[in-house]
Amino acid sequence: MCGIVGYIGDGSARGIILDGLKKLEYRGYDSAGIALHAGDKIEVRKKQGRISNLEEFIANDPVDSTLGVGHTRWATHGAPSDINSHPHCNGDSTIAVVHNGIVENYVELREWLIKEHGVKFLSETDTEVIAQLIGVCYRGDLLDAVYEAVEKMRGAYAIGVIAAGEPDKIVAVRKSSPLIVGLGQGCNFIASDIPALLRHVKDIYLIENNETVVLTRDQVTIYDKERKEVKRDVFHVTWSAEAAEKEGYPHFMLKEIHEQPGGIEETLTRRLSPEGMIKLDGISLTRKELERFNRIYIVACGTAYHAGLVGKYAIEKFARLPVEVDVASEFRYRDPLVDEKTLFIAISQSGETLDTLEALRDAKSKGARILSVVNVVGSSVARESDDVFYTWAGPEIAVASTKAYTTQLICMYLIALHMGLERGALPMEEYKRILQELLALPDKLRKLLETEPDIREIAWELFLYNKNDVFFIGRGNDAGVAYEGSLKLKEISYINSFAIAAGELKHGTIALIEPGTPVIALATQDALYEKMLSNIQEVKARGAYVVGLAKEGNQEIGKRGNANRVVYIPRCPDEITPVLAVVPLQLLAYYIAKFRDCDIDKPKNLAKSVTVE
Ligand code: F6R
Repeated sequence: MCGIVGYIGDGSARGIILDGLKKLEYRGYDSAGIALHAGDKIEVRKKQGRISNLEEFIANDPVDSTLGVGHTRWATHGAPSDINSHPHCNGDSTIAVVHNGIVENYVELREWLIKEHGVKFLSETDTEVIAQLIGVCYRGDLLDAVYEAVEKMRGAYAIGVIAAGEPDKIVAVRKSSPLIVGLGQGCNFIASDIPALLRHVKDIYLIENNETVVLTRDQVTIYDKERKEVKRDVFHVTWSAEAAEKEGYPHFMLKEIHEQPGGIEETLTRRLSPEGMIKLDGISLTRKELERFNRIYIVACGTAYHAGLVGKYAIEKFARLPVEVDVASEFRYRDPLVDEKTLFIAISQSGETLDTLEALRDAKSKGARILSVVNVVGSSVARESDDVFYTWAGPEIAVASTKAYTTQLICMYLIALHMGLERGALPMEEYKRILQELLALPDKLRKLLETEPDIREIAWELFLYNKNDVFFIGRGNDAGVAYEGSLKLKEISYINSFAIAAGELKHGTIALIEPGTPVIALATQDALYEKMLSNIQEVKARGAYVVGLAKEGNQEIGKRGNANRVVYIPRCPDEITPVLAVVPLQLLAYYIAKFRDCDIDKPKNLAKSVTVE
């Protein structure tokens, strides 16, 4: 949460930082600010609201420089307001700090600063504590002061710091929250994520935990915790700047929904040998290793967790191994049974979600083998895992995850098929058949996307219906997809939606179904189709308005007395329908949110990368 950008060079720091912040707005967007080194002073401009507010504000009170730091905020300590916006400064505004993360002992530090140093605080934030602390530690050398301050701070954070007395330097620290350094010609950058820098540089350093960086115009020096210099290989980014642009689509979310066939193709082909076998390129999942594991945990948050639910079905079905799926924030605190016989699979688009990362660290410390499914190359989850399966979805900018989810599903299928074959639980013929079916998915998905106008029409009907509660029901694999469809709808349209395994409905929740209640009924599983028709009848009997989802050819769902509207998906084996089934639900959520005039790419209260617990 929150995005930070810093620049030192000969160009306009203001323009470069504001542009970078716009690319990071997905990380938080309730306020923004910038601190620029001007003459022998630091000038701060900050404003509640979007970066466009800040731009307007600066235009009325202009300032520029060739050195500065900026921030886009997702509030943790203190409500969104001009005062609580970053950057924060020390008492005489000679130090400015931007910060992503949380300082856990900030109350203690705040009291100490007030009592021992007479510091007066202006905001309610933990970040101001950092600025004041560095200010108190500053005796003419910013790096010394930052080291001294960091010693006293507990928590997970990334910070960027400038000092009025040092016009040639940015100091940045990473402790758990993401931080990268962009390497330019006569200029250097810091940022929370790659898209902020793509327009300027492709060569970056990935900063590791507990490292401190000093940037001047011509040099970048990385130090470890003990202040020993560290050598780092340059990481070359292959994404183009355009990949992080809307390219004519009204929203990133719609663009990313349409990018799914390509993302799936890329994720599949990168993992297939010319002989049509899954290649693991060094990932240790051989028969011998698999024999070692007596337990698999899949751990993730939100949409990635929903991908884990489908992954469990696939691994249990193809590899006949028991799997538990858990949300990361719960897993960590329930003392799970983890040891060296455990395979821990983390799923994360950003690779920076703190709950997932901490669960991973916990499992690792207990001896588990860590395999992660990650989209952002070089992210923390990727770096701290023993093995990584990348989802080649490209940058996902919309806060609501779409293409990351479908590519996560593809990875889970590949992992499950490979495990099944290695364990002898899946015959080669079946392995090849499912792989062929996976390879056919991109074209089927392209065909399915042609039904977008029909889904838009259904969305319009539901919008006119103007109901505040929507239910999603499904069985087996469809239950997992129902959770995802429901999450998409609520997060971008702010309609209360609830997903439940269809068979469970009658055990309580059916009490909420009234005449006109919208129910999205997923019936894509041939093996459970008849059962779903009965569940649809149950809600219809109570007056529900049903939108059904079924495979082409399964027409009964649309016959009298069943669903009011039906979306058909191309035929494919039950195990892999989620990749197709989720897409109409993504589009439905998208259009309902659009008709409700919601801010689709940046829903309220959310951020793309959740780096707080
Ligand atoms: C919902 C969404 C979130 C994320 C969750 C985990 O559309 O995007 O629920 O899936 O915050 O994020 P990652 O995958 O980055 O760990």
